[in-house]
Amino acid sequence: MLLIECNNIKKYFGDKLILDFEHLEVHSEDRIGVVGINGAGKTTLLNILSSRLEPDEGQVKLYGRVAYISQLEPAERQNISSEMASRFGVGTVWNEHMSGGEKTRFKLAAALDDNSSVILADEPTSNVDMEGIELMAEKFMEYNGALMVISHDRNFLDKICNEILEIEDGKIKLYNGNYSAYRDQKIHERERAQLEYEEYVKEKKRLEGVIEGLKRNVKSMRKTPKRMGNSEARLHKMGPQKSQAALERAVKNVEKRIQHLEVKEKPKEQPEIKLDIQEGDRLHSKIIIEGKNITKVFGEKIIFKEASFSIYNNSKVALIGPNGCGKTTLIKMIMDNDASIRIAKGAKIGYFSQEMDILNKILAS
Ligand SMILES: Nc1ncnc2c1ncn2[C@@H]1O[C@H](COP(=O)(O)OP(=O)(O)OP(=O)(O)O)[C@@H](O)[C@H]1O
Ligand SMILES: [Mg+2]
Repeated sequence: MLLIECNNIKKYFGDKLILDFEHLEVHSEDRIGVVGINGAGKTTLLNILSSRLEPDEGQVKLYGRVAYISQLEPAERQNISSEMASRFGVGTVWNEHMSGGEKTRFKLAAALDDNSSVILADEPTSNVDMEGIELMAEKFMEYNGALMVISHDRNFLDKICNEILEIEDGKIKLYNGNYSAYRDQKIHERERAQLEYEEYVKEKKRLEGVIEGLKRNVKSMRKTPKRMGNSEARLHKMGPQKSQAALERAVKNVEKRIQHLEVKEKPKEQPEIKLDIQEGDRLHSKIIIEGKNITKVFGEKIIFKEASFSIYNNSKVALIGPNGCGKTTLIKMIMDNDASIRIAKGAKIGYFSQEMDILNKILAS
């Protein structure tokens, strides 16, 4: 069953053309994973498909109820059934103090509770713990409607998708199969493009070589041999005039062939994220952050009870645990200089928040 149809879509932000494609249909059997680099237009596409954003050109037709799970916004509904709430391990009412993963779980429960025929989900696995991701994959596989999911989680896409939609330079391209199948097709495409590019460069070089050779011949013909009388020289010039013209014609022909070669672009390299970490200001303390006898409760919920830890210099530590267990709380306590936590003198702490509130503060200042 056709659920979403769009035609001739163009979307600009300022003078930047973000999306520019002719046609897209979403049917009830579709399980589409949406991929593309940061800023490619994935969120913009889902916003347009859910009618939350108007395209500058083209039409979107919806033939069903759409539920939307946003990466950064609160759930579309404030209340969910107790059945869904218990299945996803959250309360029945939206509350701002929920942890990042609990908020995503709530949004998911709300979308599944909504009798929708399409779920559009923008990075639904971000912040969710392993068990939550398993549960989500299971629920998505059971779901009867169409599914369109933006995710950078390849395993997740492998589990739930039967189609991958890739956005690149504003264009969309659909690939059959899950993420692994898409990746294999991309590797082939890339290899073919690289080969075609190399052949193009080789052929162009060869033709340029042919031109150079021809031009050298023309030049040597123009030279009148030394020690030749005037009349002889005239004869010499008359004689080869024809072949000189033929050579010049040949040069023109080869130049035309170069012009008509189908130009192959060099395949693009994927941009890499570079972190600029400075080597200076090394710390000499053995322990950089130390927590002793940490106790923390929210209402009746005990988060830490006489907990202790040490983070050693030069170590790279992952903080893991199920949603809502207190990972962000611990980091916030470190950042807020909690009395139970000691930080080595001179240590500078960089902090990247799950909820992007630091970015908001930077933007506001
Ligand atoms: N409201 C807006 N005003 C101006 N520019 C915008 C707006 N929304 C998005 N953009 C720009 O459009 C481009 C596409 O953004 P979009 O959020 O759709 O990307 P994305 O593929 O979802 O990226 P990510 O993987 O980082 O989530 C980006 O360059 C972004 O800066
Ligand atoms: Mg996005």
